[in-house]
Amino acid sequence: MRTIVVTGGTDGMGAALARHFLKAGDRVVVIGRSRAKFDALLAAAADGDPSATARAEFAAADLSSAADSRRLVKHLRTHYEHVDALVLAASFIRQRRHVTSEGHEASWVLFFVSKYLLVTGLAGLLRAAGRPVVVNTAVPGARADAIDFGDLELTRGYTFAKSNAQQRRANELLGVLATRGVPGLAYVTWGPARLVRSGFAGDLGKGMKTAAAVLGPLVGQRPDDAVRPIIGFVDAPSPGRSAYRGARKLPLTVGTDDERDAARLAEAVENDFPDG
Ligand SMILES: NC(=O)c1ccc[n+]([C@@H]2O[C@H](COP(=O)([O-])OP(=O)(O)OC[C@H]3O[C@@H](n4cnc5c(N)ncnc54)[C@H](OP(=O)(O)O)[C@@H]3O)[C@@H](O)[C@H]2O)c1
Repeated sequence: MRTIVVTGGTDGMGAALARHFLKAGDRVVVIGRSRAKFDALLAAAADGDPSATARAEFAAADLSSAADSRRLVKHLRTHYEHVDALVLAASFIRQRRHVTSEGHEASWVLFFVSKYLLVTGLAGLLRAAGRPVVVNTAVPGARADAIDFGDLELTRGYTFAKSNAQQRRANELLGVLATRGVPGLAYVTWGPARLVRSGFAGDLGKGMKTAAAVLGPLVGQRPDDAVRPIIGFVDAPSPGRSAYRGARKLPLTVGTDDERDAARLAEAVENDFPDG
């Protein structure tokens, strides 16, 4: 039986994927903070099928905490023998800079550091799967020079656009590290083709809140429709790195020194977020 791990699996696109894979007969580990959302999701997905309930696990974790992300990795390594698919879809949009109780910039940890810790920490479980895949919903296509290596937590001149572009680029480079650590891994950086009518969790400014509330219902895709390409990547993974918007394949963004930049990111996380 496949084991599918979905961060942000309690809402939006992550929840759509969790429901799909539970109905398809997979074991699904849903990661989020809200047990109540998981219970509602399971009630809808299981629909009286006790085997679905037995195949679903809720693992509570705050992925804006590096310590909690590491604890989650240890939990998964203790309880599972393989991870066939890891879908990274947790999201909490912050338009303003926010520092966590661990003293780190929240979006950098949630949108990159936790993903780095999961992808590298679960390498052994991914290697143990027949055809492993990581789908990172970071939206490909940011500029190759979007990372400020001198100030990764953007203590100077933080803007939402800068923070967003930086984590998107970092997640593409995470694919360099991931595919090196797990030969045969399919690592897909993916973004929806257009706006998705999802939870839009976050601390949003008035403009973005209004845009989500007005445009979502008008032009937004249903999460169940938006995630169809992701289901395809999980069911028929293609080894190596790739980038997609919706079902459309994009060229990978290639910088002048991607290997070195990926190594710099790894070194920064290991230094700035030491274990224990
Ligand atoms: N919606 C769009 O139009 C759109 C466009 C481009 C890219 N994306 C990307 O697609 C992915 C999914 O987005 P979505 O809109 O479907 O998300 P969403 O509906 O807003 O749901 C966010 C999910 O993240 C979880 N989450 C939030 N903060 C967390 C934290 N600190 N620790 C752990 N889990 C946390 C939430 O769980 P709890 O509530 O249980 O904490 C929830 O399950 C994201 O990567 C997003 O950037 C979405």
